[in-house]
Amino acid sequence: MSLAVVNCRQLVTLAGDTVFRTGSQMREVGVIEDGAMLVSRDRIQWVGRRADIEIPKNYEVFDAEGGVVLPGFVDAHTHLIFGGNRANEFAARAEGATYEEIAARGGGIRSTVAATRHTTEDELVKIGEAHARKALGFGTTTAEAKSGYGLSVEHELRLLRAICRLGGKNLPRISPTFLGAHAFPPEFEDDREAYVRLILEEMLPKAAPLAAACDVFVEKGYFEIDQARRILERAMELGLHVHMHLDQLCDGGGGAFAAEIGKLSWHYNREFNVTADHLEHTPAEAFPAMAAAPVIPVLLPASVFCLGKTKYPDARGMIDAGMAVVLASDFNPGSSPTLSIPFVMSLAMTHMRMSAEEALVACTVNPGAVLASGMTGLLEVGKEPDFTVWPCEDWREIPYWVAMTRPSAVFVAGQRAPI
Ligand code: NIG
Ligand code: FE
Repeated sequence: MSLAVVNCRQLVTLAGDTVFRTGSQMREVGVIEDGAMLVSRDRIQWVGRRADIEIPKNYEVFDAEGGVVLPGFVDAHTHLIFGGNRANEFAARAEGATYEEIAARGGGIRSTVAATRHTTEDELVKIGEAHARKALGFGTTTAEAKSGYGLSVEHELRLLRAICRLGGKNLPRISPTFLGAHAFPPEFEDDREAYVRLILEEMLPKAAPLAAACDVFVEKGYFEIDQARRILERAMELGLHVHMHLDQLCDGGGGAFAAEIGKLSWHYNREFNVTADHLEHTPAEAFPAMAAAPVIPVLLPASVFCLGKTKYPDARGMIDAGMAVVLASDFNPGSSPTLSIPFVMSLAMTHMRMSAEEALVACTVNPGAVLASGMTGLLEVGKEPDFTVWPCEDWREIPYWVAMTRPSAVFVAGQRAPI
C-alpha cells in the first residue's frame, strides 16, 4: 500500500549534496514548512510542500496532525542483546565505586557474559525484540547491534544468530557487528594470546557471514593495540567494516591507531567504513590524521553521563578538524543503559557544544551513510521510507524537552510500527 504523509508543520529532510556532513558545512537541515511526502514500501517517491502535490487516489493518507516529520534515527553503536542487567553496579557507583574497580572485582562485562551464557537463544531473541521495540519508541529505525557478551565460539555465534533473527519483525533495521574482542573470558585469563588466536582462526571466519562489521575494545586491561590490529586486518580480509572502542577510560593512543586502520582499509576495499567510537580521552593532535584517513568518530555521551564522568569527547575539535561526527547511544547494561537518541542529542548540545543542527545530522544522515550506504537517515526520493512523527512545532524541541520526547508514530519501510 502506498502512503501520503500530510499535515507536517515541519518536514525535516536532511537531504543535500554530500552524504557525510560536518557541522560547519551543515547549518541547514532542510526544513520544509507544511510539507508532505509520498512513499511506497521500499522507497520515498516524492517530498515537498503540501501545496505542490495532488495526492493520488489510491494512496492511504496519514495525517501528521501538524507535527514534525523526521528521518528515523540511526543508532550506530549498541550492545542490543544481553542477559540480565547491572542495576547493582549503577547503585554501587553512586556510592563511590568506579567502572574500573567494579570490573576488577569480577563485575562489569564479565558478569553480563555469565548471565548471557545462561540465557537460551530464543530468550536472547525475545530480549533483543524488547530492546529493539524500546529503540523504536525513541524514534530509532536502524540500529547497529554488537555481540560481545558470549566470548566463546559457541556463544558469540549464538548472539549473532539472535541479532540476525530480529530482522523483518516490524522492528528497526539491524546491522550486526562481531565483538568477540570485547574482553578476555575467564577461561583465557592466563593465556590471553590464545584467545586472540581463537578469534583469528575460528571465531572471525565463522562470524563473518553473520556480521557486517567487526569491533574491538582497546583499553588498559582489555585488548592491546597490536592485538586489535591483527584482529581488524583479518576482519577486513573477510570483508567486514571496522568499528573500534578507543580511548574511553584513558588516552591509549587510539586516535593514531584509528588513523592507521583507516588508511589501511583502503588496501582492502575503498568502500570500507572505519569508525572510532568513544574517544573521550583522544587529544586534538590526533584529529588531523583521523580526518585525513578518513575515520568517522562515533561519540557516546550517554556512557559518560551514566558513568558519572565529566570528560566528554572533544566534538568541537573533531568537527573543526573536518570530521563528520556520529552520535549514538552505546546502549549496554554497564556504561549506558539507555536507548534514547533524543537524550543523546540533549547531552551533545549541553556538554559537547554541538549545535542542534550538528546533533541532528550526527543521529541521522551521517550514521545512515555508515550503516546503510546512505539509503536511510534522510528524506529524499529513492531512499528507504523510514521516518518518525513528533508531537511538536519545531524539531529543536526534540533535544530541548530533555528526557521527555518520544515520537507519536514511527514508520519502517513505509509501514507503521507499533511503539
Ligand atoms: O561501550 N567499553 C566497552 N563496552 C561498553 C561497555 C560494556 C559493558 O560495560 O558491559 C561500552 O561502554
Ligand atoms: Fe560500546
